[in-house]
Amino acid sequence: MSTVARDLVEKYDVPAPRYTSYPTVPYWESAGLTTEIWTEELKRAFSVPTARWSLYLHIPFCETLCTFCGCNTSITKNHNREDPYIAAVHREWELYLKAVPGIQDRVLEEIHLGGGTPTFLSPDNLKKLLAPILAAVKGPEGQVMERSIEVDPRRTNREHLKALREVGFTRVSMGVQDFTPEVQKLVNRIQPVEMTENLTREARELGFHSVNFDLIYGLPKQNPESMRLSMEQTLRLRPDRIALYSYAHVPWMKAVQRLFTESDLPAGADKRILYEIARTALLENGYAEIGMDHFALKTDSLFRASESSNLHRNFMGYTSRRTDILLGLGVSSISETPGCFHQNEKALPAYEKMMEAGKLTTHRGHLLTTEDRKNREEILELMTKLSVEILPDEVADAQDFLAEMIADGLVEIRGSEKSTRLSVTEKGRPFLRNACLFFDRRLRAKAPQTRIFSKSI
Ligand SMILES: C[S@@+](CC[C@H](N)C(=O)[O-])C[C@H]1O[C@@H](n2cnc3c(N)ncnc32)[C@H](O)[C@@H]1O
Ligand code: SF4
Repeated sequence: MSTVARDLVEKYDVPAPRYTSYPTVPYWESAGLTTEIWTEELKRAFSVPTARWSLYLHIPFCETLCTFCGCNTSITKNHNREDPYIAAVHREWELYLKAVPGIQDRVLEEIHLGGGTPTFLSPDNLKKLLAPILAAVKGPEGQVMERSIEVDPRRTNREHLKALREVGFTRVSMGVQDFTPEVQKLVNRIQPVEMTENLTREARELGFHSVNFDLIYGLPKQNPESMRLSMEQTLRLRPDRIALYSYAHVPWMKAVQRLFTESDLPAGADKRILYEIARTALLENGYAEIGMDHFALKTDSLFRASESSNLHRNFMGYTSRRTDILLGLGVSSISETPGCFHQNEKALPAYEKMMEAGKLTTHRGHLLTTEDRKNREEILELMTKLSVEILPDEVADAQDFLAEMIADGLVEIRGSEKSTRLSVTEKGRPFLRNACLFFDRRLRAKAPQTRIFSKSI
């Protein structure tokens, strides 16, 4: 990385949201958002005949805790917890079917199982979980319904993959994080390369046509050399997609992250250089960079979606199909409609109890104002297309707010009086989150008083 880039990283490495939603979760105004209001919002969204939707199922269990983890997990080795949890998710599904009549009539574009570790469930239980849901929904005509799952190679075997193929799953996302033994030891995640390699081979043999690896840069003791070695292994196994996440260090929210010696964590420009090493290796070997921190082979649908301006972003990250509604089932799951965000109860015992009682649950949510909707579209467009139109009366504000980024060649504001566009340049791509801050009216109106967001780099 050049000295200039190092300067830029130091300058723009500020706390910033990842913008998987707008408004971002800390800015949700939950007061007054009852389960009844949420259900009405959902009914309204499903009453639109052309509405298309996505379904997310959250399985919170993991057998062991990785010390970098920022996900909502429940650590247990007790597999007797599978059945009650599946029963709770089925109850929730039935409650939604009863409350929202349109669900079965609208096209379900994609279904995604995430966690935690969905393959904590046995192969039979995965099928059991999915059976009543798949039997009730309507897929897109002339196209397959995307079916994808996050798997932990340490907890996934051939039988899991076979069961998933039987119910039509063709995409698998593997948690890898880093191939270096020393890094793996420090994050409490020993995963020999052979384990990832075998599962990748088996997935392909069984007909999964897209394999994703989740990798993280910024983990303890990662350095340029370890990143190069990790990339060598990645390129050898050649996944179709790669999510290269910036390690989100939020020890004030995730106590487990306090187990790190902070001085072991690469930060600022030293952290960014790890991304650059990975990026260069991937671009030189047939991958394209998609939006922010994602890469795909040119044969993958994420690349095609990006080329045809169909890339979408929601709580699941970048996806290749744009939908109006995301319905999340399971503890802590987040849902969204054009007018509302909603998160389920976050504590597992309370969630299971509510489902047993036959009641949908609300932890928090947000009803979008007209301005929120506009800003949500703008941020989505910038995150997926790196360019967005700005209104004539916003140009001066944009020029002022983004003056330094413009001077540094990271964003451009161009156009005529009729139509002006704000675009992130290739040089500015690492700072996409910083550019989105312009549209984040809520954060601009009220900067957080405490630490909320991880740093943008
Ligand atoms: C639910 S996990 C994936 C499935 C499975 N639990 C596993 O770890 O293999 C989702 C992904 O989130 C990413 N992740 C978790 N905590 C993170 C953090 N603090 N910063 C950045 N990425 C994180 C990891 O890459 C992880 O693979
Ligand atoms: S990274 Fe995956 S396996 Fe590790 S604790 Fe988080 S959710 Fe569980």
